[in-house]
Amino acid sequence: MLDERIARFVPPGVDPATLPRSFALVEPLSAAGSIPQQWPVVPAFERRPDGWTAIIGIDEGTSLYGTGEVAGPLLRNGFVTDVWAKQPFRIEEDGRPVQNYDARSKSLYQAHPWVLAVRSDGTAFGVLADTTYRLRIELSAGIRLSCSKPFPIIVVDGESPQDVARQLGALTGRIELPPRWTLGYHQCRFSYHPDARVRELAREFRVRRVPCDALWVDIHYMDRYKVFTFDPEGFPNPKGTNDHLHELGFQSVWILDPAVKVEPGYSVYEEGAAGGHFLCDAGGREYHAWTWTGDAAFPDYTRPETRAWWKRLTIEFLQAGMDGLWVDLNEPSPILPLGAELPEDLRHIGGDDIEPGTHAQYHNVYGMLMAKATNEAMRMARPGRRPFVLTRSSYLGGQRWAATWTGDNVSNWQHLHWSVPMVLNLGLSAQPVSGPDIGGFTGTPSPELFARWIGVGALLPFCRTHNALIGDQEPWSFGPHVEEISKVALARRYRLLPYLYTLFHQASVTGLPIVRPLFYADPKDPSLRSEDHAFLLGPDVMVQPQLLERGTHDFPMPSGHWRSFSLVGEDPEHERAQPVLRLRPGAILPTGPGGQTTEEAFAGSRTLLVSLDETGRASGQLYEDAGDGFEYRDGDYLCTTYEAELKEDVLEVRIAEQEGARERPSRTLHLEVLTDHGVLHAWGRDGEAVVLPIDPTLQW
Ligand code: NOJ
Repeated sequence: MLDERIARFVPPGVDPATLPRSFALVEPLSAAGSIPQQWPVVPAFERRPDGWTAIIGIDEGTSLYGTGEVAGPLLRNGFVTDVWAKQPFRIEEDGRPVQNYDARSKSLYQAHPWVLAVRSDGTAFGVLADTTYRLRIELSAGIRLSCSKPFPIIVVDGESPQDVARQLGALTGRIELPPRWTLGYHQCRFSYHPDARVRELAREFRVRRVPCDALWVDIHYMDRYKVFTFDPEGFPNPKGTNDHLHELGFQSVWILDPAVKVEPGYSVYEEGAAGGHFLCDAGGREYHAWTWTGDAAFPDYTRPETRAWWKRLTIEFLQAGMDGLWVDLNEPSPILPLGAELPEDLRHIGGDDIEPGTHAQYHNVYGMLMAKATNEAMRMARPGRRPFVLTRSSYLGGQRWAATWTGDNVSNWQHLHWSVPMVLNLGLSAQPVSGPDIGGFTGTPSPELFARWIGVGALLPFCRTHNALIGDQEPWSFGPHVEEISKVALARRYRLLPYLYTLFHQASVTGLPIVRPLFYADPKDPSLRSEDHAFLLGPDVMVQPQLLERGTHDFPMPSGHWRSFSLVGEDPEHERAQPVLRLRPGAILPTGPGGQTTEEAFAGSRTLLVSLDETGRASGQLYEDAGDGFEYRDGDYLCTTYEAELKEDVLEVRIAEQEGARERPSRTLHLEVLTDHGVLHAWGRDGEAVVLPIDPTLQW
């Protein structure tokens, strides 16, 4: 027993000192004490001829979640997950091999050996199998975890799922606040090429007045897919391209792959080979596999010298003025043959606090170690700015260094739906910042599908459209009607940004997810347990999207009167493409003016949407800082708690509490009070109380 709420169990007969170090935990959990008699969750370990199994019984009515990045429903009871980072590969019914996933895919790009269990009384516990080796999680009869190597189990017990999420955040780390522009809309394609196309795209966003903060540059900028190079014809002047984007108010994110083309004369390869930076087989021969670039070698990120080398290359690369980096194919995945993986007996050299070991041991943390090195390189290259890394592969705890997305999804209705439970289960597995490729990566969405996808995607933490080689997928590619729908969806996001940024701040402090399952509103209510169309954005906003191609999804409702609201004059309840938004009774929702960029959206006045509870009260928080840099750590932030109270027919909204040394901007404060008979308005100055006389005959 390590803490009143956290216990670590080691299989009987196994000397804890022989177990490998943890990669999930921020701090190693030291000496295990004794487990008190009343400790509620005790795993039973079984030694099998091929390894170890831990079995944890669950009571009837217990709902299981988490297990990281998984396709399929939110509720994981009955599912099997293989914790093994993998570019999914499957055979279609017509015999075609495809590199994407469906609900039968047991492994996706990330590895999260973690299960959240919510008991029927609303209390919860979590189980962390603290191993980097391949782990099977079976959730048919309780929780069954199997691995070829002995592994410790960490059990977290909590009063609620939120309580467990906070403890998971404390154990495995929380996100760092990203630069604020990353909360805006991102446009990506495999690939915008050549650079003139990127510039044209930037212009088109501004001419059409579609809000956007970042344009992404995929692998065709490279010289024949060689990492850390630029195509001399297509991208002769990357710095010029980035400068141009910056002038138009865009940031840019460029991709890096781990694989290095084996080519004499290519300095990255030659340096890597000379420095011993590539993975070798048991006989010491450099291992090669086929990637975009042809035969390639793979950096060994367990080695400190290799990480230092990677950081130096990344720092040089960043001189061209990229604002963020995207690390891809880092499960790691060869491209051919389809489904190929690196052999498990490759040798990792390790160093410092990482023991030498096989690829079987380090495969699952390869992507996380690459993301960490890339994040650190960004920090070193520009110490005054916050890094932004998006990674395809990661491991439990990887949220400390990178955001993620749900990989190569498909332009169909099923994948539109899975966007929601996938992001939710990642959030329940300590990774709060993720989102799908809006519109789907493989295939071309119908106009209706794209419209619905951008409607819901605009309300998820990471909001990026991305697609593969065929078909245009910009917000205007589907005609004027869908362009208009996209503008409304993004205008809603940009108005919500002050609230969304507050949620990012809260995630960075507490570990709580940014989007949350509906059962967070009332963990005791069984009707909310499997809902995975609707979700909560933070504690206060319920999002009800229509994700079915045909028919209407009926949403269960937590208790209380969650009033619908609109943000940009849209009809709150009757536009199928825009999810219905509802505000929790008792909440104050801070919003901004919106705009074409996050810069605009955080400037100007604030509007507080107020929904009083049955006692006539409400409250809500707004966190603000410079949006980039680290001065917020020295107090340069402002965190305001507003409260509203209805007393003797007057509603007063005032500041209940404020924290931080940042000066309050001089700005208008607009109140929008939701009632069953429409919205009441009042205006005042932020920092001063705003009062609104209420007609005593009004029925709330
Ligand atoms: C695979 C990634 O999942 C995808 O998003 C990217 O566009 C391609 N690699 C090409 O870099």
